[in-house]
Amino acid sequence: MKITDVKIYEYDAVVVGAGLAGLAAARELTAAGKKTAVITKLHPLRSHSGAAQGGINAALREDDSTELHEFDTVKGSDYLGDQDAIELMCSKAPETVRWAERMGAIFSRTDEGTIATRPFGGQSKPRACYAADRTGLTLLQTMYEQAHRAGIEVFDEYYAADLLYEDGKAKGIAAYNLRDSSPAIFNAKVTMFATGGYGRAYKINSNAHANTGDALSIVARKGLPLEDMEFVQFHPSGLGGSGILISEAARGEGGRLFNSEGERFMEKYAPNAMELASRDVVSRAIMEEIREGRGVGPNKDAVYIDLTHLPEETIMTKLPELRELAITFLGQDMLKEPIMIAATAHYSMGGIPVNKRCQVRQSPTEFVEGFYAAGECSCVSVHGANRLGANSLLEALFFGREAGKAMIEDLDSIKLAKATADDARTMIDEFNWIRENNGDERVPALREELQESMTMDAGVFRTAESLQRQKEKLAELHRRYQNIRIDDKSNTFNTDLQEAVELGHMIDFSLFIVEGALAREESRGAHFREDFPTRDDEHFLKHTYATMNDDYTVSLNYGDVVMGKFEPQERKY
Ligand code: FUM
Repeated sequence: MKITDVKIYEYDAVVVGAGLAGLAAARELTAAGKKTAVITKLHPLRSHSGAAQGGINAALREDDSTELHEFDTVKGSDYLGDQDAIELMCSKAPETVRWAERMGAIFSRTDEGTIATRPFGGQSKPRACYAADRTGLTLLQTMYEQAHRAGIEVFDEYYAADLLYEDGKAKGIAAYNLRDSSPAIFNAKVTMFATGGYGRAYKINSNAHANTGDALSIVARKGLPLEDMEFVQFHPSGLGGSGILISEAARGEGGRLFNSEGERFMEKYAPNAMELASRDVVSRAIMEEIREGRGVGPNKDAVYIDLTHLPEETIMTKLPELRELAITFLGQDMLKEPIMIAATAHYSMGGIPVNKRCQVRQSPTEFVEGFYAAGECSCVSVHGANRLGANSLLEALFFGREAGKAMIEDLDSIKLAKATADDARTMIDEFNWIRENNGDERVPALREELQESMTMDAGVFRTAESLQRQKEKLAELHRRYQNIRIDDKSNTFNTDLQEAVELGHMIDFSLFIVEGALAREESRGAHFREDFPTRDDEHFLKHTYATMNDDYTVSLNYGDVVMGKFEPQERKY
């Protein structure tokens, strides 16, 4: 890759990521006449938003209210969510879902013909609006169609490798075309990251292969902060062995959990909500049963979810994809027998810190000019320490549109800082270094060590000892990464090279997860410290802001949580 080959494109806006948040933003921008490029390493319809199965929350029922949705979200977040952002999102949820419907999303209906809602964990009312068990895919397809209709320009199979950032201002990205490795600069007045999550840093996860969290370390390498990275959500029901998502809709429709002794064990952990307690609670209960030797399956590393008591019609009309997945990957038919599940790394509550207008913070009070983020890669923070199921599609769609609107408002007052080919130098140097480095470490082997150690030592259960061990492991992996070698030196769809770049990102942001978790000597939401098993509001009702130093250490700062009408209470389900 040569600096002389860099092609420079100029746009009003460049959006990285073509999932729900990215497409929603790009649609707003394009519909408002702004010249917008969408950069994605996949085809948009392969974005991970399409894997969200069970629903999108909105208080649509007569017996529900947006205030109750807010309360459930704040409680679910273990009081770490910012209540102003939560109030905004929940109050706009009904409008957001109706807007999606007007745009063409076909939701499942009640007998009366209104949008159907199903129960989800941690919610006082059935609030997850759904399209069978393909809600994310339905919304993604709708948004893709609408963004196309507005005229977006998509650069698919382009890898966004660097943010062009200097002195508190962003001016676009450096990327390369995966087809032929040709380098490009996308120079823009405003840049948005909507790149999704990072579940692939864990061995058992529900995420697509692409979910390697690249944007997080791209931002961190600029010395910009990441927020609340220690909060990693484990979804209770990943298919046994693989972690592929079995939607919470399975429990929402009545699925029951059993251990090897035939006990419906949630009675012990959440006697009121049972299987519909919030995700962190159910995931820990499952893993506790397994740890105590009451797991099922050949390796005793799963529990059963039983849906055999449900009418066949419920499964065939509301959960057809889940049934297919269990048959395909486990040979188990949920119509006839219980299927094996266990907790799976699913979602990152933390990420790139933003305000309600999706502007990226460079400190708790200052913003980067021309830089925005939304969806899972961002932290606004509506999920705090634990996200409620079906709030992620809502967050992506609502804040994706908000980001688009904010960029439209801000664009005209931002002067384009002209980029030159030299702005691609960091990307080109990294690319050439990986291709030419002649060490003896292999990327797949290092990645496996990363995934296994993150799962063991920075997973559902954590202690100072396990986290310290993982911190040392990451330092070791970082050292060994300098000594990698790839075999494919070609320019055409060089997945060896792409995976090497992605591994570098995964090692870097994992350090943020571990350092944040080590310092947070309490248990809150998805962050469970066995050596500090209770929540400590006196010392830790605060957001973590972490930055990377030149010597590959991470510094931690803390910022206030935006409180509101809901005072912290003990969290029981
Ligand atoms: O369980 C699910 O269907 C996942 C939904 C979500 O993570 O919001």
